[in-house]
Amino acid sequence: MKDELIRVGVIGVGYWGPNLVRTLSEMDGVEVARAADLRPGRREFIARRFPQVTTTAEINDVLHDESISAVFIATPPATHRDVAIAALDAGKHVFIEKPLATVVHEAEEIVASAKAKHLKVAVGHLFLYHPAVIKIRELLTTGELGDFFFLASTRCNPGPPQTKVDVLWDLAPHDVAIALHLVGETPVEVTARGARFTNAQFTETAYVNLGFPSGRMAQINVSWLTPNKTRNLQLVCSKKTVVYDDMEMVEKVRVFDAGQDNRVNSKESASGPLSYGPGSIVAPAIASTEPLRLECEDFVRSIRDNSEPVSNGQCGLEVVRVLDAASRSLYGRAAYVTGARP
Ligand SMILES: NC(=O)c1ccc[n+]([C@@H]2O[C@H](COP(=O)([O-])OP(=O)(O)OC[C@H]3O[C@@H](n4cnc5c(N)ncnc54)[C@H](O)[C@@H]3O)[C@@H](O)[C@H]2O)c1
Repeated sequence: MKDELIRVGVIGVGYWGPNLVRTLSEMDGVEVARAADLRPGRREFIARRFPQVTTTAEINDVLHDESISAVFIATPPATHRDVAIAALDAGKHVFIEKPLATVVHEAEEIVASAKAKHLKVAVGHLFLYHPAVIKIRELLTTGELGDFFFLASTRCNPGPPQTKVDVLWDLAPHDVAIALHLVGETPVEVTARGARFTNAQFTETAYVNLGFPSGRMAQINVSWLTPNKTRNLQLVCSKKTVVYDDMEMVEKVRVFDAGQDNRVNSKESASGPLSYGPGSIVAPAIASTEPLRLECEDFVRSIRDNSEPVSNGQCGLEVVRVLDAASRSLYGRAAYVTGARP
């Protein structure tokens, strides 16, 4: 496997799948042999843009092609289990777009099947490969930030028309994956609140709180109801606070010193103005490498070297467990305000 050409197939080339086809086609040592989609228009799109890729409506054309060793699955989340299990049964390594599955036991089944068959499974938690997240993890590891207290993440954009999944399972997989990756612990408790304002069936806005064994916390806000796209992560630590704003073109990550505060217990400030403010603010250099490229390279490397991808099946499973807990909590019991009628 070391230097051999790796031939792959992509199943599902709707909105996201073509990005996988493009990225994989640009990689040395990788050939996208086939792409499958149920919709003729999507097959035509791929055939026009990537004439070297054979298109088909039938996933078995991909799964029964013995020259293909790995498949990338970018079909809707509710189909991931069936497509992934069929691919693993056909002896293919699988890369599955996030979320790994929409039910915990289905995610467990995929991970167990891959393990039993000695095949690789990776999950498309793209942000684990984002140079900004890689930089933040590096800052945490060097101790420069001090003790990690909590993080807060906001991810909002207008929802897709005719959605078949709720905002929690569509947007929050990114934030949950980032939180687990940066905290480095598995949460022990999850509480969530959600609302549907314009859609009777699917949650459109959600707030999710994760509690970790160390006492650290993460709060995640996802919404499909704001037209202004927001991607903001704050990581508050004892010495410094990191702000990662993915909408910024240049200074995506800024590191704030703890700052100055002379409001209390300060003899010198007693007769002067009392104030507080941030200390110095530094924007570390962030590599411009495309996260999707790093993600695909990591999966291909894991096949070549028999190593584990960063975003492996276990990581995908833990994200599904958190999303499942959040879903169960969304419309659950709350504490009522004293005097208010429930
Ligand atoms: N990593 C990211 O940032 C990111 C971004 C967007 C979407 N995604 C993920 O990618 C996946 C796909 O999302 P999308 O927005 O592209 O959805 P989409 O609905 O636009 O595309 C899915 C495609 O899969 C095809 N399909 C469904 N079942 C099939 C089957 N059995 N065989 C062949 N084709 C089949 C559909 O015809 C459709 O064209 C989801 O898991 C989503 O969460 C990831």
